[in-house]
This record gives sequence, structure tokens and C-alpha cells, in this order.
Amino acid sequence: MSEVARIELNGEVFELPVIEGTEHEKAIDISKLRAMTGYITLDYGFKNTGSTVSGITFLNGEKGILRYRGYPIEQLAEQASFLEVAFLLIYGYLPDEKTFKKFDDMITHHTLVDEDMKRFLEAYPTHAHPMGIVAALVASLSTWYPGEDVSEEDVDLTIARLMAKVSTISAWAYKNHMGHPMMYPQNDLSYVENFIYMMFAMPTAKYHVNPIIAKALNTLLILHADHEQNCSTSTVRIVGSSHANLYSSISAGIDALWGPLHGGANQAVIEMLQEIHDDGGDYKKFMDKAKDKNDPFRLMGFGHRVYKNFDPRATILKQSADDVLEALKIDDPLLDIAKGLEEIALKDEYFIKRKLYPNVDFYSGIIYKALNIPTDMFTVMFTLGRLPGWIAQWKEMRGNNEPIGRPRQIYNGATERDFVEMKNRAGKNSVPA
Ligand code: CMC
Repeated sequence: MSEVARIELNGEVFELPVIEGTEHEKAIDISKLRAMTGYITLDYGFKNTGSTVSGITFLNGEKGILRYRGYPIEQLAEQASFLEVAFLLIYGYLPDEKTFKKFDDMITHHTLVDEDMKRFLEAYPTHAHPMGIVAALVASLSTWYPGEDVSEEDVDLTIARLMAKVSTISAWAYKNHMGHPMMYPQNDLSYVENFIYMMFAMPTAKYHVNPIIAKALNTLLILHADHEQNCSTSTVRIVGSSHANLYSSISAGIDALWGPLHGGANQAVIEMLQEIHDDGGDYKKFMDKAKDKNDPFRLMGFGHRVYKNFDPRATILKQSADDVLEALKIDDPLLDIAKGLEEIALKDEYFIKRKLYPNVDFYSGIIYKALNIPTDMFTVMFTLGRLPGWIAQWKEMRGNNEPIGRPRQIYNGATERDFVEMKNRAGKNSVPA
């Protein structure tokens, strides 16, 4: 007999089905709960709520497992290219040579962005945060390429355009920030090399992409490519569930990723390390601040909603950070602070008790800094990596014809009362008691 959950409300017992995933994680299916009982569930931050059934990414936070379409992240990071992983996430299988070439060519031949969009981009102030520019321009792509995303071919074309143009837009947002001329994409370079070229080349000199930088970036993008139903991915799915176009759905995801509690943490890590450095380098003082409940300071790059043992991405990146710093012969005082902080945090009772370990953003920030990528661009790098994951999740959601996302609430505002004319109002009369 299949498992059921029983809930008793006012003496009446209701049975709810239990569903099980392929990795044996279980859920109580409450989709008929309100219709059966008149009750809803309340779950701030959706800590216990599954929003969908998905076949894209499996992660087990307790055991530190992360797999894309069944393939362990460690194998993909070591052996695959970022575009191969993008294809795997979006289409569900590893492409053979012919299929991959078609995908790669299609992306390569859509990297140019319309010259009007370039002028649009140049009009942003140089101090503009590149995340704001990238989110705005990705939403704007829908005005250049209006369409319904109905047929499979339309969707494939939109996917290729997004993969290609987000790379160009991201690099150009950086160039705008630096006040440098924008570099056009080069079709003879790989996806990752082309991005590095557009970021760092200048029209005045020949530029050779450093293979150490290309390898490190390839790994970083793969590690960021998907992470199941996190804040930005849920945003993409919920916006897309209204049948908003794919560009707008992705743009909303970029905005969600920007926050310092999500993708913005990699920037916040370096800013925190810099702050500790400028303050004299006493990390113990900052540890005490992080533990003080009256102080809003948190140790950025530590803790994770799902990983409560270790973040497998952080393990790969810790090694990669050591390799990159050694290969590029970088001696950075912020890195010494990061290592010291990590060492004492891992032994600290407060962090051990709450299972707070370094997360992917702790090391990615350090690597980006070593690669000479400015702090403001860190979250844009995360965006570039997460893009195929968002696309895959949007495609799955639309393919399953999922209903529009529309949570409910428990209302705790004022009960019914009569309107008061302005002349008769006093103080904050509209605030509920
Ligand atoms: N420094 C100090 N204390 C912390 C930290 C931290 N970084 N993170 C969590 N805590 C404490 C928190 O105060 C709470 O303590 P108590 O139980 O005494 O009230 C306890 O640990 C649980 O924290 P929480 O906020 O309930 O945990 P959460 O699962 O809601 O939040 C998190 C997860 C990632 C938002 C949080 O750990 C955090 O703010 N970390 C710093 C920001 C960061 O590095 N974010 C990047 C996440 S990885 C990238 C991604 O996948 O998006």
C-alpha cells in the first residue's frame, strides 16, 4: 500500500498522498488540501515547500551531493566544457559531436547585438552597476525579438540568442563601467574565450586569452550553471508561469540573483575581506560581530539554505583557487585573511552548531579577484553561469504546462471598518492595532 499522511483537523482525519522522487526524497502532496479542508499551509521562505517536480538537478544538502541530469558535478567540472553542460541542462542529454557543433555554431552566430542596443548601453552612466544594465538589456531583448516562443524552433532560437547575447551584453556592461571601447565578439574563439576577449581585449593591442584564466572560468561557470529551486530560479519559473516571454523571465531571475543573500554574496565576500583588511586585519573582531545577535553583520560566503554539511562546489573551487593563485603567482593579503577566517570559523562553536560552512561564493569571489575581474562584475559572472539553468527550468515548467504561480496568505490586517473623511482623521488611524 502506498504511503499516506494523515492530518486531523477539528476531529476529522484527512489523508494526503506521499510522493517519492527517483532519489527517494519524499513529499506530502498538499495540492488538494484547501479544497478538502479549507486550510492552507504557511511556510515563510518556503523552507519546507516543494514548488515543482523537476528532472534537472539533484542535490542533497546533508550529504553534499550535486548532480546535473544525473552527472556528478565533480565529473562535469573536471571534464566538460560550459557549453556542453548548458546543452545537457537545457535538452536533458550529453550531445554527440554533430549535435554539439550545431548548438555551438548557432550560439556563435548570434553573439552580435543590435547597434541600437549598443547605443542604448553606452547611454548608461559609467558608475551604473553592471547587474542593473544586464537585467535591463535582457528584458529589452524582447523588444528587439518579439515572438511567442511557441514552436520548438522559436524556443531554440531564443535560447541561442540568450546564451550568445547575454555574454556580449555582460562584457559590454563591464566595458561601459571602465569607460573602455566595446570589443566585438570573435567567432573563432570558444564561448568562454570569447567572453574573456570581449572583457579584457583593447583595440590597440593583440590579445591572447590565457588558458589558465579560460580553464578557471569554464569551471566557475559550470559550478554555477544550476542549483534547482533557489530564489532566482523560482523567480524565473514563477514569472514564466504567467506566460511572460523568456527574455523577461530571465531578466527577473537576474534581478533576484543580484541580492547579497543570493548571487550578490560573491561581491559581498570581497568587500567584507577588504573591510577587515582596512580595519587592520583582526578577523576575530569580525567573527564576534557575526555572532552578535544585535549586530546585523554576517560572515559573507558562509552558510547555505540547503547545504548543511559542505557545499561540493566550494570543495572544487577551494582547489581551483589554490591552483589559479599559484599559476598566476598572485600574493594577495585578502586571500590570507580569507584563509584565516575560514580556519577559525570552522573551529568555532557558533558556526559548528549552526552548520555554517564556506559556500561557493566564498571561493568564487577570491578566484574572480585573482582573474582581475572587478568586484562589481562578480554577480554578472554568476548570471552568465546560471543562464542555462534558468533556461532549462523555464523550458521544463512550460513543457509541463504548470499552472500560474500564485501563493496564498494568512491575512493579519485590520478587519472591516468605515472610510473616514480626511478632515476627521487623526494620526496613524489607518494602521491596524
Ligand atoms: N554569519 C553569521 N551567522 C549566520 C550566517 C552567517 N553567514 N548565516 C546564518 N547564520 C546564523 C543565523 O543568524 C541563524 O542563527 P540563529 O539560529 O541563532 O538565529 C542561523 O545561522 C540560521 O540562519 P538562517 O538565516 O535561518 O539560515 P538560512 O538558511 O535562512 O540562510 C543564508 C542561508 C545563505 C541566506 C545565510 O547563511 C546567509 O545570510 N549567509 C551569508 C550570505 C551568503 O553567503 N549567501 C550566499 C549563499 S550561496 C549562493 C547561492 O546558492 O545563492
